[in-house]
Amino acid sequence: MNIREAVPKDNKELQELQAKCPQGTTLVVSTVNTPDFFARGKAYESYKVFVACEGQRIIGSAACALRDVIVAGKINQVGYVFQAFVSPDARRKGVASQLLQQREDYLSQQGAVLVYTLIIEGNLPSMQHVEKRGFNLHRTLVMPALVVRKEMNAPSMGRIRPVTSKDLATVAELLNETWQGFEFHESTSAEALAQFINRTPAYSSDNLLVLEDQGEILACLGFWDWSQIMRITVKALSLKMRMIGFFLTTTRILPEFLKPGDIMKQIMLTPIGFKDPLHLAVLVRYVNNQALLSGIQQIFCICERDHMLLRSMKGFIRVNTAMHLYVKLLQQNISLSDKPVFIDGIDM
Ligand SMILES: CC(C)(COP(=O)(O)OP(=O)(O)OC[C@H]1O[C@@H](n2cnc3c(N)ncnc32)[C@H](O)[C@@H]1OP(=O)(O)O)[C@@H](O)C(=O)NCCC(=O)NCCS
Repeated sequence: MNIREAVPKDNKELQELQAKCPQGTTLVVSTVNTPDFFARGKAYESYKVFVACEGQRIIGSAACALRDVIVAGKINQVGYVFQAFVSPDARRKGVASQLLQQREDYLSQQGAVLVYTLIIEGNLPSMQHVEKRGFNLHRTLVMPALVVRKEMNAPSMGRIRPVTSKDLATVAELLNETWQGFEFHESTSAEALAQFINRTPAYSSDNLLVLEDQGEILACLGFWDWSQIMRITVKALSLKMRMIGFFLTTTRILPEFLKPGDIMKQIMLTPIGFKDPLHLAVLVRYVNNQALLSGIQQIFCICERDHMLLRSMKGFIRVNTAMHLYVKLLQQNISLSDKPVFIDGIDM
């Protein structure tokens, strides 16, 4: 087996392999980055995709990205490892372990002080895999999924509009204030926001909304329509999920629930900035109403389990999934604090 960097002509083979590697236990889904396998990585300023090959055949792949975030009160470069999958017929032979080693070596060479990853509740193979490689569970966060099912009343607290280049500095300031004191937060600026909007596939300034009142930006909310960059197909539902579905359909809250074969249309909220959750709630409701028109079924984000942004989601049917944040320190002079952490939606 050899490991090399993925190239654009691997696109189709990677998609075919990805389709054979569903994940999840509560909700088993197959995720295929389509039409461009590399689209998801492009949301990062710096990312790499590796492939493990046996002869000419790709048997596994994994990605990583570099970011400058706050760790232990200082800006540090960290690595994020994501999107690992190995062909079912090549599992338990150390392929994922070697792909992880490759990424750790690369990130280390680039100066990353630590590497982190996110693992959804119940994905025991992945948890055991990273624990064996020296990762520790740092925190368990929550990924709330809001069910998009009806138009929500959005109280009038100002004007909602897409961000303009003139707003970017104020929006950046609001984002930095919102997440001040959170570990893993990457301080932003007008320029960094503009670059994020430009480089992220299926994202434009129309995807970043602001709530403005009397010239003041009260909240901002970005949304990334995943259905434009990946196809997520339901493969199976756990008992917990089937029971939620049974409850929602028999009480007529939903006309129907997910079933195997369904294509899920989802949006991820990023970035999120506010001072008062009531202001954010107006934007969340506005996004829900837009999502409803384009057939989106769920809205996601990720945060600490008691974060006040959850208060902006009142009135929604919310299905919570636990998300484990695993961290491995790559340098000895670094330590993590107990402070709350910020995880950007693009990491999902
Ligand atoms: C998770 C995954 C990438 C592991 O790939 P792999 O090449 O089989 O992993 P490795 O052979 O390197 O296994 C390393 C260790 O992980 C753990 N592990 C891997 N698969 C496991 C399983 N099914 N059950 C329990 N532990 C498992 C073991 O500790 C294993 O060491 P061991 O074989 O010496 O006991 C693979 O199962 C996969 O593609 N799953 C579907 C996609 C997915 O869930 N991706 C991860 C998203 S976070």
